[in-house]
Amino acid sequence: MAIELKQGVYWVGVVDWELRHFHGHELSTHRGSSYNAYLIVDRKIALVDTVWTPFAERLLENIRQVVDPARIDYVIANHSEVDHAGSLAEVLRHTPNAELVVSRRGQDSIEGHFHRGWKYHAVKTGDRIPLGETELLFIEAPMLHWPDSMFTYVVGRNVLLPNDAFGQHYATAFRFNDEVDQEELYAEAQKYYANILTPYSELVTRKINEFVALKLPVDVIGPSHGVIWRKDPLQIVTRYAEWAAQKPARRAVVIYDTMWNGTRRMADAIGEGLAEVGVDTKIFHAVTADRNDVLAEVFKAGAVLVGSPTLNRGLLPTIWPLLQDLKGLQFKNKIAGGFGTYGWSGEGVQVIEAHLKDCGFEVVPEGPRAKWQPDVTALEACRAFGRKTGEALAARLG
Ligand code: FEO
Repeated sequence: MAIELKQGVYWVGVVDWELRHFHGHELSTHRGSSYNAYLIVDRKIALVDTVWTPFAERLLENIRQVVDPARIDYVIANHSEVDHAGSLAEVLRHTPNAELVVSRRGQDSIEGHFHRGWKYHAVKTGDRIPLGETELLFIEAPMLHWPDSMFTYVVGRNVLLPNDAFGQHYATAFRFNDEVDQEELYAEAQKYYANILTPYSELVTRKINEFVALKLPVDVIGPSHGVIWRKDPLQIVTRYAEWAAQKPARRAVVIYDTMWNGTRRMADAIGEGLAEVGVDTKIFHAVTADRNDVLAEVFKAGAVLVGSPTLNRGLLPTIWPLLQDLKGLQFKNKIAGGFGTYGWSGEGVQVIEAHLKDCGFEVVPEGPRAKWQPDVTALEACRAFGRKTGEALAARLG
């Protein structure tokens, strides 16, 4: 169903209530998602983005509610990932007169994905395409979150279409931010930022500053996933600026895996110590917790503690993906530490601490180790370590 969000600007996307995994199985999407495409109808007609490949016909049905797709003059592909560009081939088949407009980097990535030899009209920041009363203004946004990413701004309607930026994997009955549960909306927006955009936080800050300096009026921000920001639309830009700063909070995350519950008992005791000094703490079993939900909590926390028994002079294999994420997502401004049980060689905690240092975290030294199962003394040492970590976090927060 097409929905008009400003005069002549329509949402023609698709809500995907079924989706539970994204990027293959890399990202969990507990609340589904949407693939937002936008149609701008003026003397000329432009389609901004398409939808994921299986939904191409649904997109075309929505467009037909407004115009005959054959009348479309421009198809804008802000980004080549298939959740937005996957229906390009089918759309272009129905839009014989349309020019395919991409960012300069999009020429490579769209051709690289689809191998169609299309004729590309590549645009750069500041380029404009007049449609009549309105015109499209393009703003390249490389690495938000792919090299090709681009924003399209509808001059004359004050609508920003920033593709993945400001989006959420959030299937909803309603299309606008003021119509949905605010807690769910922000949980999904922040999970999206934490899991996708964190490594590019400096670029996010720079792009926001660059956009603000353009002094463009913004009445609506229509991202390519989730709800459209129409009530106080810049609220999400303000939030992004805050998130990009990665300021530490008085929160901690303890993540562990365990063989016979020894490291689990240590995790619980560390959590008790953190709580004793007023740090709100969440404890996750790395195997049973959802990886992306854990990373969203890590993003919000000022301290992260990782526990594993020593196995074969290293760690339980289930801990490694998490350590890789801590490094790959380039979380900043965190205090960190390791802990775990051992039987004989006992290098596990050192291995964790070395990795956490490599992530750039301030490591609280001498993470607790317990031989075989932790006894009362070892558990008290864990509580003390939790308190020490919490106090170090408090000192950092000032
Ligand atoms: Fe980068 Fe929504 O795709």
